[in-house]
Amino acid sequence: MGFTLQPATKEDFIDREDILEEMLHTLTDKKVRMGYALVGPRRIGKTSIFKEASRRLNQRKDIVAVYFSLWNLIENTAVEFCNQITISIIEATKKRLSLKYKIQHILKVPATKLFDFLKTIDFKLSIFEDIEISLAAGKKGEMDINVLIEKVFEFAERLASELDMRLVLILDEFPSIMDVKNGTKLGEGIIRKIRTIQEDLTGTILCVSGSIRKTMDVAVLSPSAAFYRQFIIRHIGPFNISVVRDLMVRNIQRDINEDAGEELYNLTNGIPFYVQFIGRELDRTGDRTVDRKLVQKAFRNFLDQEGDILFFEEFKSLSDKEKSIIYAMAVHNLKTPRDICRITGSNSNVVSRYIEYFTDKGILSKQDKGLYEFTDPVFKTWLRKKYMPTIL
Ligand SMILES: Nc1ncnc2c1ncn2[C@@H]1O[C@H](COP(=O)(O)OP(=O)(O)OP(=O)(O)O)[C@@H](O)[C@H]1O
Ligand SMILES: [Mg+2]
Repeated sequence: MGFTLQPATKEDFIDREDILEEMLHTLTDKKVRMGYALVGPRRIGKTSIFKEASRRLNQRKDIVAVYFSLWNLIENTAVEFCNQITISIIEATKKRLSLKYKIQHILKVPATKLFDFLKTIDFKLSIFEDIEISLAAGKKGEMDINVLIEKVFEFAERLASELDMRLVLILDEFPSIMDVKNGTKLGEGIIRKIRTIQEDLTGTILCVSGSIRKTMDVAVLSPSAAFYRQFIIRHIGPFNISVVRDLMVRNIQRDINEDAGEELYNLTNGIPFYVQFIGRELDRTGDRTVDRKLVQKAFRNFLDQEGDILFFEEFKSLSDKEKSIIYAMAVHNLKTPRDICRITGSNSNVVSRYIEYFTDKGILSKQDKGLYEFTDPVFKTWLRKKYMPTIL
């Protein structure tokens, strides 16, 4: 146990017991055929929830959970997508196959080599052959991509039935699936395709996540989305103050003042990634009691050393006008279009358009009618600090 920047599982995983319990209960209930859609901003802990849920599900005999992140794709082609999901399914079911067919060495064989391996031992399970042939045809461009996607899900279904279990297929960062291309981007077409396939699935349950509100709207949330009402939607929020304190106390073997936890919570808003990062910094440096001042110092170091790496890319991608508006919002703590117009001297149409753009990109979140906040308060602090280095 300790602070980690990787998705947290096992003893590193804290809190979130309600959602985990609910997911475990629902996903193992054969009467329920709906999976989960986790919605939440970047670095809030969606992947950790999925990975921990998978781990716990995989302890059961009648369930196998397959985790796959769309961000794992390198070429972003439809064939790569189908291939990688297939490999993830094989990887997750290998152990069950070895038990059922008593092939011990299967566990040592990398999933990518599994087809070859199955041939060498003359192990004929027609599901494998079928998908192998389909994938090979897809690679040569001889197969319609829609058919290939159907084959992948058919493969999951047949494997689930062969092993007599339910297969929970988790697609993390699901909206990125729209960037998958077959020559050109498949866009919403691939989502509609999967939605149609999903209607007939019996042994496979789909779960998805997404961090940008707009793309989740298009794919899942809005009434016009292909997956509207097809998932149990859960919004993931930050840790509360007592969880932040708990994480510090568990991982730092020094005295911790009461107000240190409060400060860490205030600076990070309870966003798990920042809590972990600053916690790690505190644990590494110094040996005196952790107090408010020490937390502030660690936070400053974090912003100086990591802020640009984390935020500059996104900031750089904005136009000059967008940069100036978002700067002004951070520096002057502006939350309403009216105040933005007043301070930046822009007209209200322009400001409305930019606000819409920022909310679509997930930079701002609507708090109330006409009231907008930075989705990530640490991004806001970083911007403020750039402009006024002595602010912290
Ligand atoms: N339940 C948890 N317990 C402890 N740490 C957590 C928990 N959830 C998230 N974290 C920590 O927060 C960070 C981000 O977690 P994770 O990658 O799960 O978030 P995410 O929402 O998937 O982020 P991204 O948008 O980058 O994909 C990691 O450092 C992880 O260790
Ligand atoms: Mg993630």
